[in-house]
Amino acid sequence: MDLESIRQTAYGLMEKRAADESGEIGDAYDHGQRVGRLVISLRKYILPDDDSYDRLLTVASWFHDIAGDHDNHARQSAEMTGERLKEYCSGADIRKICALISGHEDRVCDKKQLSDYVKLLQDADLLDHYGGYELWDAFLQAKRHGYGIPDVIEQSKSARFEKLLYNRQLLNFDISKLIFDDRREFISAFYKRFAVEGTGGIWNGDLILSYFYSLNN
Ligand SMILES: [Fe+2]
Ligand SMILES: [Fe+2]
Repeated sequence: MDLESIRQTAYGLMEKRAADESGEIGDAYDHGQRVGRLVISLRKYILPDDDSYDRLLTVASWFHDIAGDHDNHARQSAEMTGERLKEYCSGADIRKICALISGHEDRVCDKKQLSDYVKLLQDADLLDHYGGYELWDAFLQAKRHGYGIPDVIEQSKSARFEKLLYNRQLLNFDISKLIFDDRREFISAFYKRFAVEGTGGIWNGDLILSYFYSLNN
């Protein structure tokens, strides 16, 4: 399987595409590439001695959302990918890649039916929406809708915790939940500070002042 040719195909198909109607041009491709790296990192935690699916997981990640973001996109993405990969992969590999892609949104089924590989792809896909990406997305949305810093600070206070908790429990592996929590901690720490600096305050002002006095006395 020539991964570089397949990556170029993914780029050609998605470089000008947004992942959904509010996305940026090219983010369908970028999301796939990030998920492709993340899924291999997760695999090394969960199945440290099994790299037999790495190339299949990588390719499945690159194409998993090629059909967009609608309800039936997993199945449709699998079909489109199967067509596109005919010149690069064996029939057996295509079937495995398509099975990974069509299972990537099956998060509320009986999980016993899913292979660890599908579960890895599901977790990598979900995790990619949290942490640094959340900030990137929040600020892009603000620019798009003409929101200022006070609006963004206000919106950060009304983060939908039920949705966060719901998505957290959809994750398959404990290590994914830890990564999720770490990403969320970063976001809340960022917004705490942003709420101070974004309204003209000084973060750690008392600490800086006492250090300043200690230097001058
Ligand atoms: Fe998806
Ligand atoms: Fe996705």
